[in-house]
Amino acid sequence: ATNSLFLLPGDGIGTEIMAEVVKIIDWSNAEGLTDFSTDSGLAGGCAYDAHGEAISEDDMAKALKADAVIFGAVGGPKWDNVPYDKRPEAALLRLRKDLGLFANLRPAICYPALADASALKRELVEGLDILIVRELTGGVYFGEPKEIIDLGDGQKRGIDTQLYDTYEIDRIARVAFDLALTRGKKLHSADKKNVMKSGVLWDEVVRGVAKDYADVSFNHILADNCAMQLVRNPKQFDVIVTDNLFGDILSDVAAMLTGSLGMLPSAALGAPDPVTGKRKAMYEPVHGSAPDIAGQGIANPIAMIASYAMALRYSFGMTELADRVEGAIAGVLADGLRSADIAQENRKTVGTQEMGAAILAK
Ligand code: NAI
Ligand code: MG
Repeated sequence: ATNSLFLLPGDGIGTEIMAEVVKIIDWSNAEGLTDFSTDSGLAGGCAYDAHGEAISEDDMAKALKADAVIFGAVGGPKWDNVPYDKRPEAALLRLRKDLGLFANLRPAICYPALADASALKRELVEGLDILIVRELTGGVYFGEPKEIIDLGDGQKRGIDTQLYDTYEIDRIARVAFDLALTRGKKLHSADKKNVMKSGVLWDEVVRGVAKDYADVSFNHILADNCAMQLVRNPKQFDVIVTDNLFGDILSDVAAMLTGSLGMLPSAALGAPDPVTGKRKAMYEPVHGSAPDIAGQGIANPIAMIASYAMALRYSFGMTELADRVEGAIAGVLADGLRSADIAQENRKTVGTQEMGAAILAK
C-alpha cells in the first residue's frame, strides 16, 4: 500500500462513528479504488487509561509518519479530574502542534433535504457551500505577552497579544487561494484592518498573494461585516480566509446555517513537505465525544464520514471518490433517512450503523 491512514477514534461516540468510516475504507480497498493501509491508536481518555498520557509517543510517531490522520472525538466526564496536561484534549493540541497544522478548513454545506433545520429561511441556505479557512496556530490565542498583571488598588490588567508574521499570513492565504481555485474561484479575506495593525499587515500580505491567483476573484471584508453578511446572504461567499480568533467565531456562525453539529466535518493541514510536497493533515468532525448518547448506537456518523471524504479530496486528490462519498450522504438525506439529532417530525430515525450502511450502499 502506498497511502497510509492513521485512525484515532478516541472516546465516547468517536469509536462508534469511526467504525462506519472503516467500512467505507474496506469497501474502497476491496473494489480497488484505494490502496490504503490503516493502523489505529489511542487518543484522549482511553489513552490516559492505557498509558497515563492523552497520546503515547508511539502513537505520536505513527501520526507523524502517516499520510493522513483520521480523528474521532475525545473527552468525557470520566476524565474531568485528570491532571491538566494529561486531559483528553491535550491529545488534539499535541497533534496540531507536532504536525504543524496551521490551516483549519471548516466547510458549511447545506443539504437541500435539511434546509428547514437551518437557523435561516430555506431560500437563504438551500445549496449553500462555503469553506472557511481559519489560521490555527498563531494570533491572539498564542501571542506573548499573555498574562494578568496585578496593578494594585484592586485593579488587574488582562493582556493577550494579537501577533502575526508575514510568513504565517502568506502560507494560510496560499492554502485558501489554492482551495478557491478548486471551487467557486472567489475568496473573501476577513480582518479588522480599520482598527488593528495586525489586520493591516494581514490585508497587505493577502493582497500580495492574490496577485499570484489571477483566476480567483479577491474581496476584502471587515470581520464584523462578514458575520453580518453570513446571516444576511450567506450564498455570496465561497472561500473565506481569516485569522484564528475571527475564524473561530465566523466558522461557528457558518456552522449554524447548516443545521446540526452531527453534520460538520473539518480538516487541519500543515506545510507541504519540501521533498514530497505532501502536507501533514488531520481530519475530524467538529463535534465532541457526546457522552450523553455514547454507547447507544444512535450517534450521527455523517460528520465523521464527511471528514473522511475531505481526506480523500485534500490529502489524496481522489476527487471523484470524495464526490461519491459526499453524494451518498446527500442521497440518503434526500431519501429521508434521519439520525435522532436531525430527526424531523413524524419520521422514523435510524441508528449509527444503519446510517453508515445506507451511505455505503449508495
Ligand atoms: P459534543 O459535541 O460532544 O456534544 C454536544 C451535543 O451535541 C450533545 O447533546 C451531543 O449528544 C450532540 N452531538 C454531538 N455530536 C453528535 C453526533 N455525531 N450525533 C448526534 N448527536 C451529537 O460537545 P460537549 O457535550 O460540549 O462535549 C462533550 C465532550 O467532548 C467533552 O469532554 C468535551 O471536552 C469533548 N469535546 C471534544 C472535541 C474533540 O474531540 N474535537 C470537541 C468538542 C468537545
Ligand atoms: Mg469555536
